[in-house]
Amino acid sequence: MIPAKVRAAMNEQIKHEMESFYIYHSMVAYFAAQNLDGMAHWMRCQAHEEMVHAMKFFDHILERGEKVELLDLRQLKTEWSSPLEAWQDALEHEKFITGKIHDLTKLARDEDDFQAEPMLAWFNTEQIEEEANADRIASQVEMVGENKQGLLMLDKELAARVFPAGSPLDPAAYTAASA
Ligand SMILES: [Fe+2]
Ligand SMILES: [Fe+2]
Repeated sequence: MIPAKVRAAMNEQIKHEMESFYIYHSMVAYFAAQNLDGMAHWMRCQAHEEMVHAMKFFDHILERGEKVELLDLRQLKTEWSSPLEAWQDALEHEKFITGKIHDLTKLARDEDDFQAEPMLAWFNTEQIEEEANADRIASQVEMVGENKQGLLMLDKELAARVFPAGSPLDPAAYTAASA
């Protein structure tokens, strides 16, 4: 059994992770339109992680015999005026998510939901990585400034991120099938 308030907050968190999946795909589209294919690829890999995050909460609720409720997603930003603005937004979004995980951790403690603790500890650790990644890339994009060559070098570097094995978001997974 999950305390009612914790269950409600976990369902909210599924929504927030799905919103991460969604906004990062808007960024994939934006970067691709700017011919920054490495950045688009990196964000698509990140979007995969976000769906995994949503599913961790989804499965946790189900395993404990409680009801999953998929809520409406908010309308999030879909346009950016520069790659820097997009990466800064990615960082801000991750900070928002970290705050939500902190709130949920505190709530689970207040409600004596000990069984939620291992999963929430995993998310607290994960958020360190998520903020560090976005912060590092946003800082590097800021560093190169108006230097197009620097931006292209960074884009090439970000193209090296690898999809988790078997990810359905990896274009190789579906373009091969239809070829
Ligand atoms: Fe996430
Ligand atoms: Fe991650």
